[in-house]
Amino acid sequence: MIRYSDELIEDIKSSNDIVDTIGQYVSLKRKGRNFFGLCPFHKEKSPSFSVSPDKQIFHCFGCGVGGNVIHFISKIENLDFRNTIEFLAERSGIELPKTENEQFNQRQILKDKVYKVNEEAAKFYHENLYKPTSKSAQEYVKQRKLNNATLKSFLIGYAGTNNELYKHLKTKGFADEEILASSLVNKNSRNQFFDRFTNRLIIPILDVRGKVIAFGGRVLDKSLPKYINSPENIVYSKGRNLFGLNVAKKGDLKKVVIVEGYMDAISLYQRGITNVVASLGTALTEAQGRLLRKYAEQIIISYDSDGAGQAATLRGLEILKSLGCDVRILQMEGAKDPDEYVIKYGTGRFNLLIDNAISLVEFKIKVLKKKYDLENTNDRIKFLQEIANILESDVDSQIELEIYIDKISNEYGISKEAIYAEINKNKYVASNKEQEKVIRPKTLEKKKDTLDETTLKKENVIIYLLLNYTEEAKEKIKTYIDIADLKYETNKIIIEKIYDLLNKNESLNNIIDYFDDEEVINHLSMILADDYEIGDVNKCIDDMINSYNKERLVSRKSEIVRLMSEENLTKDEAASLGKELTEIINKLANLK
Ligand code: UTP
Ligand code: MN
Repeated sequence: MIRYSDELIEDIKSSNDIVDTIGQYVSLKRKGRNFFGLCPFHKEKSPSFSVSPDKQIFHCFGCGVGGNVIHFISKIENLDFRNTIEFLAERSGIELPKTENEQFNQRQILKDKVYKVNEEAAKFYHENLYKPTSKSAQEYVKQRKLNNATLKSFLIGYAGTNNELYKHLKTKGFADEEILASSLVNKNSRNQFFDRFTNRLIIPILDVRGKVIAFGGRVLDKSLPKYINSPENIVYSKGRNLFGLNVAKKGDLKKVVIVEGYMDAISLYQRGITNVVASLGTALTEAQGRLLRKYAEQIIISYDSDGAGQAATLRGLEILKSLGCDVRILQMEGAKDPDEYVIKYGTGRFNLLIDNAISLVEFKIKVLKKKYDLENTNDRIKFLQEIANILESDVDSQIELEIYIDKISNEYGISKEAIYAEINKNKYVASNKEQEKVIRPKTLEKKKDTLDETTLKKENVIIYLLLNYTEEAKEKIKTYIDIADLKYETNKIIIEKIYDLLNKNESLNNIIDYFDDEEVINHLSMILADDYEIGDVNKCIDDMINSYNKERLVSRKSEIVRLMSEENLTKDEAASLGKELTEIINKLANLK
């Protein structure tokens, strides 16, 4: 039996507006932005059943049921998923493919069209950049020091206002369905079409074959979000492509430099460093690693010098190493990213950085060094121990080991003998494992399943904020509130998905589509339908973060108390636990 594709299901969903569809079963009255009526799923006298045209969801505040249009029809007509899809397709006059083959062909045809839409759009945006009405964009590219040849090589363009792209694509004869499938245009519930990108510099993303698959749009000023990108769609899957590879592969790719941002890649390219690709924001994926491995012998990671960049470097490293790549890390000082560096210091200096890029082992040791004060004897001992661990786990050959030990000894003033001794000690300990005594953290007391209302409400508000507030608010919550901090399983599942989508820079608009568990769908529809009184959002988030910090401290405190009561604790262990306990007590006192 044929399995309907995700695109087809998406198409069917958007062709059956939720207010319109539910309106055939329930008499709905508008109240503000939403519609209300008597719930068809339980008996009630006053309407608590709400339908949101913006979010395309329903939720009953009486019985808790909710979801999107597919969930509604499935429930009210008592149909399984397949039959619901067929019901809705019929309702909106969409013809369903009868065989996988037919569906495959339909999909191929649509894909080809979307490539054509994208190509036409890239051309339109690029030409638009040179029009007299695009002064602000022209000034911006000048300010970013992009020359004409670069603008041409990368097909850089400008998206203006007034939904010009949609209008242009229509004059070229594309159907709405094809235009929507490109994600360059969105449709609202009143069937109006809106360009995704307005007043932004446009950077097309091409795949290795040179087909335009997606777009990034940068603001011309300091407003947020800095970049908007195409979401994943029928032709674009983010983690499988590298920006600039189509251009870079024309030159020598023995060594390839991988950077974080569009602008880094473009700027290096313009200044003669043509063996460069960008992973676009989040950490490198395995698929990107495999793609790179096909073209390059050595991969040089050159991420931003900030904390996020360094963390991404470590993750990227592990991935590339596990793929068996020869990886180096470029060390950059005096600039926040490669673009800034090469503008400030020139191509020659950047090439020097490439030549001096360091290996995984050296990078790990450098990161480690920041943790310790090498003037302090205790710290020096710990530093040495950790170096030994790294050398043991990451160095494969004896020759390599000797080279590293030489280097480390010179750089950090630690004698070679001491390093060897530490490695040998590790080996000795490993072979006497049974005598080894370590503190094994026991899992914290089991979390209770029953929940109090306040905790639940608090967690719901977090999700509400993630779905409704600014990029900054989302980023802050994601950074400081951990999934493990939450108590309610359903909320954990929802937040995990939200964090995942945020990490991939994807839209949260259709969040409800990502779940199939009924409890999750009902709960999420409630949060989506609800209006929470937040007041001062920043203060609300800060309070929330503080309270979780406090919870973490309190739980670590009881863990320490428990550990300290264990028998075979050595003096050192007891002392370090005692020290930590004092610190926690102090921190807690400060929080009050
Ligand atoms: P950066 O903020 O380092 O971008 O983000 P950049 O390339 O240096 O940008 P400029 O120089 O300020 O113009 C690195 C990459 O992360 C993604 C983009 O792909 C960007 O190139 N990103 C960043 C987004 O997708 N959205 C954002 O809001 C920010
Ligand atoms: Mn930059």
